[in-house]
Amino acid sequence: MVSGEYVDNLSAIDWGNVSKVSIIACGSSYNAGMVAKYWFESYAKIPVEIDFASEFRARNVIYDKKGVYIFISQSGETLDTLSALKEAKKQNVTTIGLINNLNSSIANLSDYLIPIEAGVETSVAATKSFIAQLMKLLNLVLMASKQKNIITQSSYLGMLSDFNSEIAKLCDILSVNRKIIEISKAITQAKNVIFIGRNHMYPICLEGALKLKELSYLPVFAIAAGELKHGSIALVDEDSLIIGLAPKNDVYNKTLSSIEEVKARGAKIVLLTDSKDNIDVEYLFNMPKCPDILAPLFYTVPLQLFAYQTALGLGRNVDRPRNLAKSVTVE
Ligand code: AGP
Repeated sequence: MVSGEYVDNLSAIDWGNVSKVSIIACGSSYNAGMVAKYWFESYAKIPVEIDFASEFRARNVIYDKKGVYIFISQSGETLDTLSALKEAKKQNVTTIGLINNLNSSIANLSDYLIPIEAGVETSVAATKSFIAQLMKLLNLVLMASKQKNIITQSSYLGMLSDFNSEIAKLCDILSVNRKIIEISKAITQAKNVIFIGRNHMYPICLEGALKLKELSYLPVFAIAAGELKHGSIALVDEDSLIIGLAPKNDVYNKTLSSIEEVKARGAKIVLLTDSKDNIDVEYLFNMPKCPDILAPLFYTVPLQLFAYQTALGLGRNVDRPRNLAKSVTVE
């Protein structure tokens, strides 16, 4: 749950004076970081840049002494992330590690530490640690927002307590197992699977696609919905399955337009939405209503379940997918 307990650990950071946030991570941790980019910019009004750790090392980073550099890692041992942190430390900038394994190199080296507190995660696919990363990042964003007087102390505390009750609604998603299995079968039958979404749903598309491909070994893509017509729509035909994420928010209508575009090419559609609109798609997955800020947490859960059920259906090893290690300690 969102607790706010670690806030004291970070109280030395003056968020009003932070010129930008840089987020550095790999894989699922990167996807969590991209959600935080949208949150930081919307709710704490701080510009954010985000890099894969390998690319952060590959490019000539212009360090900003008033910037805060956040390194996200479940294991705390990913080599690229650790090496990027070592580079940042040499530049004498403020570093935060958001880490699950507290006995790890990244946890030890970071100036500030945010424990992910997901418990031990043994399966190669990051699932509970991804959700826990999102919760911790959200708490961090709100803390920065409160410190900058964008939200008040009372609304901050109110939001934390609302979040804890809202999160209970996630259990509703777990009770629709039949639909999840039906959609997993459609995934297996598709020639390709493409996740589309906008705004903070785009990184959730990336995460849903990563989980599905690493567990099922199927050809899966994630495209920012607005980018479809810039090339990727050429992949779409009547054998494609499109999984659209469309919470009823400011970009809902635009996402539905993208759905119409792929429908016109004959693709089958899975639509996840909390809207009650009468939408004609093959698979409508009704999501519980939640505040838009929480939508990334909510929409992750069914996508993880699609990946799990698809992999089970294909007889894959859901805990130990081929070619992958839990912690990537080589380049
Ligand atoms: C996700 O399911 C993968 N296991 C992988 O992408 C992972 O998130 C990545 O290797 C980063 O690991 P880390 O969080 O331990 O640094």
